[in-house]
Amino acid sequence: MTIQVVILAAGQGKRMHSSLPKVMHALAGKPLLKHVIDTALAVAPGKKPVIVYGHQGQILRDQLGEQDASWVEQKEQLGTGHALLQAMPAVKDQDRVLVLYGDVPLISVNTLNKLIAATPAQGLGMITARLPDPAGYGRILRDAHNQIVGIVEEKDATETERAITEINPGIYLLQGSHLKKWLPRLGNTNAQGEYYLTDVITLAVNESIPVQAVQPAKTEEILGVNDRIQLARLERFYQREAAENLMRQGVTLLDPERVDIRGEVRIGRDVVIDVNVILEGRVVIGDRCLIGAHTILRDTTLGENVEIRPHSLIDGAQIADECVIGPFARVRPGTQLGGKVHIGNFVEVKKSRIAEGTKINHLSYIGDSKIGRQVNIGAGTITCNYDGVNKHRTIIGDNAFIGSCTQLVAPVTVGARATIGAGSTIIHDAPPDKLTLSRAPQQTIDHWQRPLPESQK
Ligand code: UD1
Ligand code: CA
Repeated sequence: MTIQVVILAAGQGKRMHSSLPKVMHALAGKPLLKHVIDTALAVAPGKKPVIVYGHQGQILRDQLGEQDASWVEQKEQLGTGHALLQAMPAVKDQDRVLVLYGDVPLISVNTLNKLIAATPAQGLGMITARLPDPAGYGRILRDAHNQIVGIVEEKDATETERAITEINPGIYLLQGSHLKKWLPRLGNTNAQGEYYLTDVITLAVNESIPVQAVQPAKTEEILGVNDRIQLARLERFYQREAAENLMRQGVTLLDPERVDIRGEVRIGRDVVIDVNVILEGRVVIGDRCLIGAHTILRDTTLGENVEIRPHSLIDGAQIADECVIGPFARVRPGTQLGGKVHIGNFVEVKKSRIAEGTKINHLSYIGDSKIGRQVNIGAGTITCNYDGVNKHRTIIGDNAFIGSCTQLVAPVTVGARATIGAGSTIIHDAPPDKLTLSRAPQQTIDHWQRPLPESQK
């Protein structure tokens, strides 16, 4: 039987005090709703989840991919039962419908698979959890045989019911045909005047349909985000888990509380990551790399034994074995470094291919360039790649030596083994093997005197 996931995401999220829809706020760099969509696709591969959206639906559709889900609008937010009803045209009778919430981002694939395995095909499955402080949640009602018989919302609960600590996280697995029968029957005579999805539990019990409960591996999985404080707490939980996973795989984190993973990372063994490192997007780090403090790696691949020194920002780069980068380096998208390249402090490299063993150690800008092997680029070298309209390329051959403070006005080629004298402005190609320089002659002015202060004149 097919699992059809429905994600309820029409709530406004007033407590975020934001112009962004709540489910578009990021956790670990990814919108809350995207976490849930990814989980849905892991549980039901190849099956588009149905997303029930409300306010600002177009923002959701634009940013999350129109094509990756079936989008259903709930024009008025009349409650969770009403929200799920809107999805019914997209649900088949024989589907098993898994209901998730767009603002409960960390529910795990494992827990959902446990729920699916534990629930009989014709039964009703749900997740429950015990919280020391159950405030705000619907409470689980059980009979003398410990069977679930219903859910009562906090606003409708009696004093005794409020003391119950087993709560409803709002995640259910139900038969499509059952939902189609029950949802239209829901009423809204309750404290909030809403159509409560939770009332289907009672309808199931009345029809003697077994209700199966499953507990999450960790409580944080079922926590929702209603405000920015809860969002920050879940972010910390997520980061702690991500850090522990890395440590289990053989990565040393000098302080697991001070590393942030915002994407998908693959890290080899015996990598050491210092404090305040952020890894974003797709990051691959080979064995034995050292990542210095206060560094950001984004969409970057590092080979083995690479050293990134502190305060570096590496974005969209391919970096081969044994490179040394930083401190204070900025490597920008489209950069490819061969083995043993050195990029030093206050060096910016953009969209350039730099071959093995080349050194650019201080204060340089290298953009749109192709640089050969074993080249030495002196301090303060600048590729003038932009004429105000177009970008141009600089090509430097193997073993060239570029003297300090050289400006290479692109398009320009420096031949292999060429030497460029310090302080040159190179506007024509420099031939291989020769010294090329452009330099105003040095003068000394005789009889020149420093100006005197007025008082000494
Ligand atoms: C609901 C449950 C409650 C449970 C709690 C867990 C009901 C009646 N109550 O409470 O038992 O403990 O979730 O968080 O179901 N939504 C819509 N359209 C609507 C209303 C809500 O799409 O008209 C979506 C929201 O975007 C959200 C989810 O449904 O993702 C839950 O809504 P919310 O209002 O936060 O839940 P509660 O009513 O507080
Ligand atoms: Ca509500």
